[in-house]
Amino acid sequence: MNANTAKPVVDKPFVQRLEATAAATEALLLELLSDNPLDNEIVRPKRLLDAMRYGSLNGGKRLRPFLVVESAALFDVPHKSALLAGAALECIHCYSLIHDDLPSMDNSDLRRGRPTTHKAFDEATAILAGDALLTIAFDIITRDDVHRDASVRLLLTRALARASGIGGMAGGQIMDLAGEGRFGDKQPPDVEKLQQMKTGALLHFGCIAGALLGKASKLEYAALDSYGRALGEAFQIADDLLDLESDAATLGKPAGQDDAMGKTTFVTLLGVDGAKQRLKNLVGQADAALSGFADRADVLRATARFVAERQS
Ligand code: IPE
Ligand code: IPE
Ligand code: MG
Ligand code: MG
Ligand code: MG
Repeated sequence: MNANTAKPVVDKPFVQRLEATAAATEALLLELLSDNPLDNEIVRPKRLLDAMRYGSLNGGKRLRPFLVVESAALFDVPHKSALLAGAALECIHCYSLIHDDLPSMDNSDLRRGRPTTHKAFDEATAILAGDALLTIAFDIITRDDVHRDASVRLLLTRALARASGIGGMAGGQIMDLAGEGRFGDKQPPDVEKLQQMKTGALLHFGCIAGALLGKASKLEYAALDSYGRALGEAFQIADDLLDLESDAATLGKPAGQDDAMGKTTFVTLLGVDGAKQRLKNLVGQADAALSGFADRADVLRATARFVAERQS
């Protein structure tokens, strides 16, 4: 968003918290992507492992693991459990970015300030790195140390599958491509559904993961569910505004791509001011959803503001 209009984004403790989770996630991913095969794995081929590491280490805000950690903190879930669930979610997010950047999808050369995985390696390796990050996510989320109660792990695993697949991220991605008119006549997409799916679903999972891990009450779950929906939608509107108003050096990924590809977003539907108003309303909704937690949810409130006001 425009640096001139943004207020001081977030207080320092928030940024430090975000950075601490990012560092812990980085360390955990490094460990999970080690050279050593797990039981029943045969070998971990070096080229594929290198590409998985390239696409998932050294970068990113790690916002999705942060949402897991902070939603779990409301219920005193052990930190390690939340970090593992967050790492699983981040693997799926990184896979989605690798595939999103492929020439057959958004055809991007830059991601997190570096050449995209298919540029640094090749397309086939990038596709397989995405596949293997997707599958390792399910290996991670089902680990015994995510939760001692297997029924909780089952609910989490199912929720992660649904956020990622046909009715979630992958489904949203094909709606996004269809909206460009790639598969025949250009039909105006249902942007709200498209964005809830392609981006909102994984962020929403981050928010409800804490509730599942913490065996939240129905009311608490519903609060995080509403918060996660509003936050997910806000996140993509901010991304679309940044695509229009920022530049590649700040974003670490190409700017101006949505217009070039003919994507339909809330920016094209509502204009910049309309999209900013919608974003503001969503932050208000995210905030309101947390009222039952009182000040215990202040970090999640700050997260919603961060999502709207971030510069990259
Ligand atoms: C980018 O997500 C992709 C979208 C869903 C719009 P992020 O902005 O969270 O990307 P990283 O993980 O920080 O690089
Ligand atoms: C991508 O949305 C969302 C997913 C990767 C699932 P975008 O295509 O807008 O994300 P960026 O702008 O490339 O990060
Ligand atoms: Mg895309
Ligand atoms: Mg893209
Ligand atoms: Mg974008």
